[in-house]
Amino acid sequence: MNLAADTVKTLEWTPEGIVLIDQRLLPHREEYRLCRTYLEVAEAIQTMVVRGAPAIGVAAAMGVALGIQASKTRDLNTLQTEFDQICNTLAATRPTAVNLFWAIRRMKKVFDDLLAQGAEIHDIQQRLQEEALAIQREDIEANKAMGQHGASLVPGGKTVMTVCNAGTLATAGYGTALGVIRSAVCLGKNIDVIALETRPFLQGARLTAWELQKDSIPTTLITDNMAGYFLHSGRIGCVVVGADRIAANGDVANKIGTYTVAVLAKENGVPFYVAAPLSTIDLSIPSGEAIPIEQRPETEVTEIQGVRIAPAGVAVHNPAFDVTPHVYVSAIITERGIATAPYEECLRRLKEK
Ligand code: MRU
Repeated sequence: MNLAADTVKTLEWTPEGIVLIDQRLLPHREEYRLCRTYLEVAEAIQTMVVRGAPAIGVAAAMGVALGIQASKTRDLNTLQTEFDQICNTLAATRPTAVNLFWAIRRMKKVFDDLLAQGAEIHDIQQRLQEEALAIQREDIEANKAMGQHGASLVPGGKTVMTVCNAGTLATAGYGTALGVIRSAVCLGKNIDVIALETRPFLQGARLTAWELQKDSIPTTLITDNMAGYFLHSGRIGCVVVGADRIAANGDVANKIGTYTVAVLAKENGVPFYVAAPLSTIDLSIPSGEAIPIEQRPETEVTEIQGVRIAPAGVAVHNPAFDVTPHVYVSAIITERGIATAPYEECLRRLKEK
């Protein structure tokens, strides 16, 4: 089966820099953007050229490697200062998805270990590049494993509902929630998908619909406020979404609107599944209360694709994510298996496996 996961490249390391598909332009234009410096990578994350928790983690790791390769210093103290500056800049781009901080921490560990071993600057630069590429490779592997675990939960002959875009575009490849859907289709399950448009940034309408169409997976687009209507219809076999950060108790931060869908799913007896790699699980945070929620510009709400839809001066809120309490989560699908309640114990076991 020729899947979009195999044909679309979300991010690519090249000798000139990092190539990113510009997700702001999809589905109208498929354009690739070359980031030659770590500052350009940071800007690409902040402005949503690249988005989705695992993808921004990989982009940040590549940004660190790129930044350190540009260093001209021969002095290790200066290198350390430059390294910290690069990491701090990339870490300040978006606050909610923990994969960003996880990836930077992983790069820091490699840097610190090599420094402690007295490695040459050239070797440090090379090893950081290898680590970034390993993070990218492992993310694809994790998504495929998640797909295999999760596919068993998807009932055949029914519709799967998904929110936002948790596909190839949101990861290094294959996707988390869309990876589960892809694997279910590959197993021969007769399913179709309902994609929520996901106002205000329209990741569902622009990206999920585009990706699934490329894979010829039958997909129907609905607006976010239609979710209850369809969840009540008896047509939906399950909801599968991705996550930006999962607290130790299983509370899930994901794209704004996910919580509404989760409550409606429970009310209508529809299982609500979250597919996320272990890098999305933040055991240092006891519950969703402590997850920082990114607030995005007002214009994303007052305008649709640059066209103003609201009167000037109206008050606006634009939180990019919400937190779904764990009681609404039927299971969390990871690359090492499926976690069910009580989540704290189960997630810890999977992470430490
Ligand atoms: O603001 P975005 O587009 O980066 O938000 C993305 C999401 O909320 C995804 O559902 C989440 O990152 C999981 S992606 C595998």
